[in-house]
Amino acid sequence: MARSALLNVMVQAAVKAGKSLGRDFGEVQNLQVSVKGPGDFVSNADRKAEKIVRDELLKARPTYGFLGEESEEIKGTDGAHRWIVDPLDGTTNFLHGIPTFAVSIALERNGEVVAGVVFNPAMDELYTAERGGGAFLNDRRLRVGARRVLSDSVIGCGVPHLGRGNHGKFLVELRHVMGEVAGIRRMGAASLDLAYVAAGRFDGFWEMGLSPWDMAAGILLIREAGGYATDWNGGTDILDGGAIVAGNEYIHKALIETIKRPIPAK
Ligand code: IPD
Ligand code: CA
Ligand code: CA
Ligand code: CA
Repeated sequence: MARSALLNVMVQAAVKAGKSLGRDFGEVQNLQVSVKGPGDFVSNADRKAEKIVRDELLKARPTYGFLGEESEEIKGTDGAHRWIVDPLDGTTNFLHGIPTFAVSIALERNGEVVAGVVFNPAMDELYTAERGGGAFLNDRRLRVGARRVLSDSVIGCGVPHLGRGNHGKFLVELRHVMGEVAGIRRMGAASLDLAYVAAGRFDGFWEMGLSPWDMAAGILLIREAGGYATDWNGGTDILDGGAIVAGNEYIHKALIETIKRPIPAK
């Protein structure tokens, strides 16, 4: 697997930030934790990791724009390129000592994601993809799962936290999906959920209310692994719309139909 120079820059940045997160993981009593809103936390571990990624990426490509969760957006003079970064996806897991979190870095060119990296430092799992070059977990080429029916499938989802999302609507979706599938999982880090779809660990995934940095890298991983990732109408308005459905051709379609099934009349 030959990586481009740009992908190497992204990998280096993700690994360096991952090391910083690894040092802070389990040290919650020494972290400064603040609340962005109900059930929504951030710590200096998130901010440190973002600074590491931002410095590495902008050192390599100073003219590119930068959109990260924890710092002010840089527009960049380049016009065509933008980094999209979640320095710590899965903050709630991280702060609870749950080793399911990741650094997610994507590169957008003229509005299209062309490279993506998702790194889970606790499991030393590095997911990479470049447009047209396939998706990889460490050195292994990835392919989405082959299951064709929901009844054989394990489906990941996101559960809206306190203060976000329409909980009633989510419970209806959950009930519909639960009635069709072999199992449902909620891991708590959207970038890893999408990487798991690319790796065939999850057969499908759905969530709404996400931000571009949660999804940009993962979407490319899935597409390069032969899967589908769209908004809930099967369209491409994912990054701005915040809602995503993913899976192979069959599961993606079945999942859209299931989550959009109307709320039963009382
Ligand atoms: C969160 C995670 C979670 C998703 C939330 C995101 P953060 O990201 O990806 O799985 O359900 O909506 O905000 O805040 O831990 O980077
Ligand atoms: Ca956050
Ligand atoms: Ca996130
Ligand atoms: Ca984050």
